[in-house]
Amino acid sequence: MSIKKLLVLLGALVLVLALSACAGPAGPEGPAGPAGPAGPAGPAGAAGADGAMTELTCKECHNDTAIITGKKAPWSISGHGAGTAFAEEGGRNTCAGCHSGSAFSAMIAAGQNFSQLESGDANPTHQDCRTCHQIHVTYTGEDWALETNAPVTLVTSGATFDGGSGNLCANCHQARRYMANFVDKNDATKFAATARFNTHYSVQVDTLMGIVDVAANLGVEGKPGAHYSMVENTCVGCHMGESDAHGFEPQLGTCVTCHADAENFDINGYQTAFEEKVKELEAALLAKGLIAEGAEGYAAVPGSYDKATASALFTYFLIEEDGSMGVHNPNYFTALIDAALAALQ
Ligand code: HEC
Ligand code: HEC
Ligand code: HEC
Ligand code: HEC
Ligand code: HEC
Ligand code: HEC
Repeated sequence: MSIKKLLVLLGALVLVLALSACAGPAGPEGPAGPAGPAGPAGPAGAAGADGAMTELTCKECHNDTAIITGKKAPWSISGHGAGTAFAEEGGRNTCAGCHSGSAFSAMIAAGQNFSQLESGDANPTHQDCRTCHQIHVTYTGEDWALETNAPVTLVTSGATFDGGSGNLCANCHQARRYMANFVDKNDATKFAATARFNTHYSVQVDTLMGIVDVAANLGVEGKPGAHYSMVENTCVGCHMGESDAHGFEPQLGTCVTCHADAENFDINGYQTAFEEKVKELEAALLAKGLIAEGAEGYAAVPGSYDKATASALFTYFLIEEDGSMGVHNPNYFTALIDAALAALQ
C-alpha cells in the first residue's frame, strides 16, 4: 500500500473517531484532503536470472572449469606448444603445411596436401588449439570437432592411411622422401647420400604401415603391424588415450588394454633388445666411415653407395626419425635392423 493511500485512510479514520465522540447529529462529509508527498524508494529487489548471458554458447567452453586450461597446460610444454620449428620453417611453402598451424588449417580447408602450397605463412603459428579443432566456427561446443579425420592419401608413397582420428596426425607425421628420392643420377644402381639421407622427422605413419621402400631394398616384406590395424584411432589412441591427454606422450593406460602386465613401454624388453641392435648398427656404420659426428648427433657421410650399404644407412636414420625405438611396428623394425646388420657384414 502506498504512503499516499495510507494517509488518506488515516485521515478518514480520524474523522470517523471525531464524529463518534460528538453528541450532535452528523454533518455532511467534508471534501477529500490533498494528496500526501511521495514516500521514499523501497529496497532493491532480488537479482533476476541473467538474460543474454544464459543464451551465450561461449560458456560451453569459456567457463569456470578447466576445459580449456586442462588441455592448454600440457599442450604448452609438448612439442606442438613449445617447439620453435614453426618460427623458422613456417614461412616457407615447402614446410608451412606442417610447420605452421594456421597454414595447416587453410590447407585442409582447400583440400590440399603439404606438397601443394604455393606460399609460406608470413604469420606462422604453433600447432595449437585452432590447428586441430574447429575453434570459433559455430561458437558452440561443437567447435571441439577435429579439423579433419578423413583418411589421408600419403604424398610420398601414394598409399592411404586410414586410422580413425589418427588421420588428423597423419597429414603431418608422414615421410617427405624415401630412398627412391636419392637414386644416383649418374648410376641408377646406387644411392647418392647427402647429410639429409632420411625421410624427414615425420615418418611415423609410414613405419606404422610398414611401407618405407628401404624394406624392399633389403629384401624384407614390409607390412602393417597390430599397432596400425588394431589400436583404435591409431596415433590418438596411444598418444592421447582415454583422457585425451594433450602432452601427446604415449599413454600406458592404452598399452595395458592389450599388454595386460605392461609397466612401461619396454614390453617384454623389446625396446632394450632393439636398442642393443641399434648400437651394433651404429658401430658398424662408424667403422665403415658411413656416419660421422654432425651438429645433431651422427649424420650420413655424403657419397654414392650400393643398394645394400645405402639401405643399412637409411635404416639407421629411419629408426632415429621415427622416435619410437621400434614400437610403432615391432616386427617390421626387427626385420629391418636384422637385414641392415646382415647387409654390412
Ligand atoms: C569450442 C569451445 C569454444 C567456444 C564455444 C568459444 N570459444 Fe573462445 N576460445 C576457445 C579456445 C580453445 C581459445 C584459445 C584458448 C587459448 O589459446 O588460450 C579461445 C579463445 C578466445 C579468446 C581469446 C582471443 C583469441 O581469439 O584467442 C576470446 C576473446 C574468445 N575465445 C571469445 C569467445 C566468445 C565471445 C565466444 C562466444 C561467442 C567464444 N569464444 C566461444 C574455445 C571456445
Ligand atoms: C599441423 C601438423 C601436425 C599435426 C596435425 C600433428 N602434428 Fe605432431 N608435430 C608436428 C610438428 C611440426 C612437430 C615438431 C614441432 C617442433 O619441434 O617445433 C610435432 C611434434 C610432435 C610430437 C613430439 C615429438 C618430439 O620430438 O618431441 C609428438 C609426440 C606428436 N607431434 C604427435 C602428434 C599426434 C599424436 C598428432 C595427432 C593427434 C599430431 N602430432 C598432429 C606437426 C603436427
Ligand atoms: C609432412 C609434414 C612436414 C613437412 C612438409 C615438413 N616438416 Fe619438418 N617436421 C614435421 C614433423 C611432424 C616434425 C616432428 C616429428 C618428430 O619430432 O618426430 C618435424 C620436425 C622438423 C624439425 C625438427 C624440429 C625439432 O624441434 O627438433 C626441423 C628442423 C624441420 N622439421 C624442418 C623442416 C623444414 C626446413 C621443412 C621444409 C623444407 C619441413 N620441416 C617440412 C613435419 C613436416
Ligand atoms: C595436435 C592436435 C591437437 C591440438 C594441438 C589440440 N587438440 Fe584438443 N584434441 C585433439 C584430439 C585428437 C582430441 C580427441 C577428441 C577426438 O578424437 O575428437 C582432442 C580433444 C580435446 C577436447 C575434448 C573434446 C570433447 O569433445 O570432449 C578438448 C576440450 C580439447 N581437445 C581442447 C584443446 C585445447 C584447449 C587445445 C589448445 C590448448 C587443444 N585441444 C589442442 C587434438 C588436438
Ligand atoms: C601402439 C601405440 C602407438 C601408436 C599407435 C603410435 N605411437 Fe607414436 N609412439 C609410441 C611409443 C611407445 C613411442 C616411444 C615413446 C618412448 O619410448 O618414450 C612413440 C614415439 C613417437 C614419437 C617420437 C616422440 C619423441 O619424443 O621423440 C612420435 C613423434 C610419435 N610417436 C608419433 C606418432 C604418430 C603421429 C602416430 C600415428 C601415425 C603414432 N605415433 C602411433 C606409441 C604409439
Ligand atoms: C589393440 C591392442 C594393442 C595395444 C593397445 C598396444 N599393443 Fe603393442 N602389440 C599388440 C600386438 C597384437 C602385438 C604383436 C605384434 C604385432 O602384431 O604387430 C604387439 C607388440 C608389441 C611390442 C613387441 C613385443 C614383443 O614381445 O616383441 C611392443 C614393444 C609393444 N607392442 C608395445 C606397445 C606399447 C608401448 C603400447 C602402448 C603405448 C602398445 N603396445 C599398445 C597389440 C597392442
